[in-house]
Amino acid sequence: MYSDDDDAALYDLLNAWDPGHWPGDAFYDELVAAAGSVLDVGCGTGSMLHWARENGHTGRLAGLDPDRAALARARRRADIEWVESTAAGARWQAEFDLATMTGHAFQCLVTDDELRASLAAIRAALRAGGRFAFETRHPQARAWEAWNPSNASDLTDAAGRALRVWHEVEAVADDVVTFTGTTAEPDGTVLRVDRTRLRFLDVGPLDGFLAEAGFEIEARYGDWQRGPVTAASREIVTVARRR
Ligand SMILES: C[S@@+](CC[C@H](N)C(=O)[O-])C[C@H]1O[C@@H](n2cnc3c(N)ncnc32)[C@H](O)[C@@H]1O
Repeated sequence: MYSDDDDAALYDLLNAWDPGHWPGDAFYDELVAAAGSVLDVGCGTGSMLHWARENGHTGRLAGLDPDRAALARARRRADIEWVESTAAGARWQAEFDLATMTGHAFQCLVTDDELRASLAAIRAALRAGGRFAFETRHPQARAWEAWNPSNASDLTDAAGRALRVWHEVEAVADDVVTFTGTTAEPDGTVLRVDRTRLRFLDVGPLDGFLAEAGFEIEARYGDWQRGPVTAASREIVTVARRR
């Protein structure tokens, strides 16, 4: 009733990439512009790389994502490489200066095995000294507590269809949050329900996985203005370097 293609288009409407407006987008845009070759892991609809190419990036740009409908939108630009795969399935060897995971895509790596395999593949894709930049929501901010139907949003999609969307947490088990996202008619008639699991790693375990995978921390921030991680931080922003 609301297709994967519709859902991917809605994602773009709600999450337009705009470094002039969003500090997080500006943070990544600066790194991407300075890198000769970039691999965007969990690229979704590809908007970060689209922006980079449109704004003059002449180097190699590649995006990877397991979501076919999202990638179909990414493929609207043919001057960027697009690969349908999970991070763990990536097979590049020492080809990129920078790898990114934006939009909290890193939190989709839920199990220890998936995390280890993904970090190993990302590290392998980077040249010696290459960087991996990503962010993960700090568990102390308990972002999931705002994901409830009382925070439903009413909106109109790109096709002019009126919608109501909301989230609802099903379970919080250790550092994994399971929740649903519902897309409905304004009267509440449900069109689709998507279930997601996200991992909320704290700094200690995160750095343990990175060290084990062969990364060292080059920079760590608690916000997009490059402030330190504090007891009030909502984000853990990491720039790691391939050892
Ligand atoms: C919230 S979206 C972020 C998309 C994009 N990076 C952005 O900033 O708009 C998370 C993305 O991670 C992708 N994803 C989920 N599991 C993944 C995995 N194991 N490896 C790589 N990407 C994954 C999803 O398909 C989705 O496109």
